[in-house]
Amino acid sequence: MDKRRLEIEITDLAFNGRAVGHVEGKVVFLDGGLPGEKVLAEIINSRPRYDEATVLDIIRKSDRRVAAPCSHFDYCGGCTWQDLTYQDQLGFKKKQVVDCLERIGGLEDTRVLDVFGSVEVFRYRNKMEFSFNVAGDGGFTLGLHRRGRFDEIFDLDKCHLTPDIASHIVGWVRDYVKRTNLSVYDVSNHCGYMRFVMIRQAKRTADLMVNLVTNYGDFPEPDKLVRSMTAAFPGISTIVHNQNGRKANIATGEIEKVLIGCGYIEERLFESVFRIRANSFFQTNSIQTETLYRAGFDLLEARPDNRVLDLYCGTGSIGILLAGYVDEVTGVELVADAVQTARENAHLNKVRNVNFVEGDVKDFLRDSVKADKSYDTVIVDPPRAGLHPKALKRLVRLNPQKILYISCNPSTFARDAKEIVTAGYVLPQVRPVDMFPHTMHIELASVFKRK
Ligand SMILES: C[S@@+](CC[C@H](N)C(=O)[O-])C[C@H]1O[C@@H](n2cnc3c(N)ncnc32)[C@H](O)[C@@H]1O
Repeated sequence: MDKRRLEIEITDLAFNGRAVGHVEGKVVFLDGGLPGEKVLAEIINSRPRYDEATVLDIIRKSDRRVAAPCSHFDYCGGCTWQDLTYQDQLGFKKKQVVDCLERIGGLEDTRVLDVFGSVEVFRYRNKMEFSFNVAGDGGFTLGLHRRGRFDEIFDLDKCHLTPDIASHIVGWVRDYVKRTNLSVYDVSNHCGYMRFVMIRQAKRTADLMVNLVTNYGDFPEPDKLVRSMTAAFPGISTIVHNQNGRKANIATGEIEKVLIGCGYIEERLFESVFRIRANSFFQTNSIQTETLYRAGFDLLEARPDNRVLDLYCGTGSIGILLAGYVDEVTGVELVADAVQTARENAHLNKVRNVNFVEGDVKDFLRDSVKADKSYDTVIVDPPRAGLHPKALKRLVRLNPQKILYISCNPSTFARDAKEIVTAGYVLPQVRPVDMFPHTMHIELASVFKRK
């Protein structure tokens, strides 16, 4: 392998958060460095169209560089840009949206508005998943992934993106597992018990959930665990145990048992209350969720006679918040738990003009087109992969006047936007919203209008 050492000028930041430079006209992606900096780097990977390099030293520092407060920043996979001023992070995020719309979407006339930055730039997350992993010495680690390593977990001391209590609980669970000799799941052979600790704390109510995700089997001596955990953390509202015996390394469970409390927490958005359960989606930055939704609603300009479809509705928050301004809302969601919670949320908030359907969006749209159903507005808020091609085709065949598209991935958004515009819609503007400071993620709200 080519192990050349070179001085490289950093010119840009790439979509995945890596720094960008050039050597003899060829693009180099680097694992550190900020635009305007000169670094000493070693080429670690050479591909036909680009090289990859690791930064050994910063020769000339940028004045955009700030000290990262987190002791794990150099190797944690969570944050990419703690060492870049927040204003500059927002600038790069806007540029990424512009680039995606132009390069992938071919949408040069769409105006990208300034990014709405997050009010809180630390401790903004209401949810974090911490993983267990076996360590070579017969021990284990509990914490977050090392940057770029799906198979390496480092012992977390403190995460700055979550409330401090989350880090304290992680430390406590680590000690408890050591003390009680519980085994730890090994991804290489799928044996062992403890897999994840997920902690959710609502911003507005401070409700606190601890979700222990394990391999199959009841939690040993659950009463003992509950007694000692709640003695250490009296603020805990509920502890749940989820069993996940599947190979997919995700922190959701197939079998859930509530060990104490009611099995859910409640969060407030605007004046409404939302239940959140362990296995259903809720936006991760509560305060900024209001900004994202408001940005979408402002662009939408809904009217009292509008019939609205809220696709990928999760626990129903968008539809429930919009319901007071429109005639009726139908939400569609794949996860049964989320649909049940969405119905409870509507009831809790005394909203009667919403109903929720459990199912796959693409099937729901197929049936709606077949039945010649008509909606004035369709809201889509898909996962990072964007709209399934069939869902996209059926969505434009449904022919709503407006499509409110909320996206957590500008690349797939730009791909879908191109198709929607080709089918006869205009996209005058998009509003990026930063829900995840210090990471490369960016959300956006946009409204397509039928020509
Ligand atoms: C980004 S979340 C948005 C949730 C909600 N709109 C909100 O703001 O809280 C995407 C949601 O889509 C759901 N989902 C994923 N694929 C789906 C599909 N094919 N059909 C229906 N829902 C799906 C997920 O379970 C998740 O709740």
